[in-house]
Amino acid sequence: MSLAVDNIGQLVTLDPADPERPVRVDAALVIDDGRIAWVGDARRAPAADSRLDARGRAVVPGFVDSHSHLVFAGDRADEWEARMTGVPYTAGGILRTVAATRAATDDELRARLARHVAEVRAQGSTTIEVKSGYGLTVADEQRAVRLAAEVTPETTFLGAHVVAPEYADDRDAYVELVCGEMLAACAPHSRWIDVFIDAGAFTVDEARRVLKAGRAAGLGLRVHAGQRAADGGVALAVELGAASVDHATHLTGDDVDALAAASTVATLLPLVEFSTRQSYPDARHLINAGVTIAIASDANPGSNYSSSMPLAIALAVREMGLTPLEALAAATVGGAAALQRGDVGHLGVGARGDLVVLQAPDFRWLGYRPGVPLVAHTVLGGEVLAS
Ligand code: NIG
Ligand code: FE
Repeated sequence: MSLAVDNIGQLVTLDPADPERPVRVDAALVIDDGRIAWVGDARRAPAADSRLDARGRAVVPGFVDSHSHLVFAGDRADEWEARMTGVPYTAGGILRTVAATRAATDDELRARLARHVAEVRAQGSTTIEVKSGYGLTVADEQRAVRLAAEVTPETTFLGAHVVAPEYADDRDAYVELVCGEMLAACAPHSRWIDVFIDAGAFTVDEARRVLKAGRAAGLGLRVHAGQRAADGGVALAVELGAASVDHATHLTGDDVDALAAASTVATLLPLVEFSTRQSYPDARHLINAGVTIAIASDANPGSNYSSSMPLAIALAVREMGLTPLEALAAATVGGAAALQRGDVGHLGVGARGDLVVLQAPDFRWLGYRPGVPLVAHTVLGGEVLAS
């Protein structure tokens, strides 16, 4: 089956094979068998089995949200309200979600996850990474990655989110469990392993143990670091060749130099800064230094409960010094780099047919009209999703 998307007023391809021309006007494209088969002038579009008329609007690659925690139950709106009056975010709240998540049935978690996935699709995200981390027992963590794998191939085992309450007096034994039995149970359902480096979570040395065990089990590496302080996590991520280090809110000069020289992507999470009232990292400085950056949502019930990539883009422009095109690129090809995927995040020939028709003539409206629903259609693998 093929689909022609034509009458595109502005097409943002971000095709790495055509870096001089990230944006085209009066364009069309054809998706065949789930992949982009043709991109070109609107007047030359070849015939296809079906047609989506973009009616002169802008088309952009589907957003690649490379960081989310969407398998959970309960909420922590009270913590959010307290933060808005100056109470700082701490990792301690994670245990409240752990309790609610453990108490939920599989069907409850699956239904909530499905609602979240529908929500992210409606906001234009076509690739999402989903982490575990609210189970913290072998069975509950395995359940979380198993449920995540029902909705995405980008699943991440985050048993090292915080120390499980049962191990509060023996954190070493918990790290042992994560690296042993829990990893063995979760690895078959996971592509990645992640660890939260923070004063309220895990030290750099504990994280090194976890990441090395994950790597030995065949998983790729991701790291939460630098959320509340420069904590040495960036150096560890670079040392171990992690695909991505996420948050990166607090960085030293050495961290920036190390990232610039490495393939590790710095994944920035502006919705977390927004929802925790922290100051934003200087993405302009990172780009100027030669660091590859991504923008992701980090949707979770604690530090940020928004899954809106358009709002993340708007904040990245408003607060982090990016141009509109840089912010869009960070939310698409940047996210793809953070997931080591070459087939998503752009609309070059051969890429997956994942795109968004915006209710706008120009991609800059993503930041120009913050908070306004601007997704007219989400197309996933050549299929136009119901909107
Ligand atoms: O990425 N930092 C660690 N994990 C999440 C927050 C989880 C929570 O507070 O429930 C984050 O911000
Ligand atoms: Fe996170």
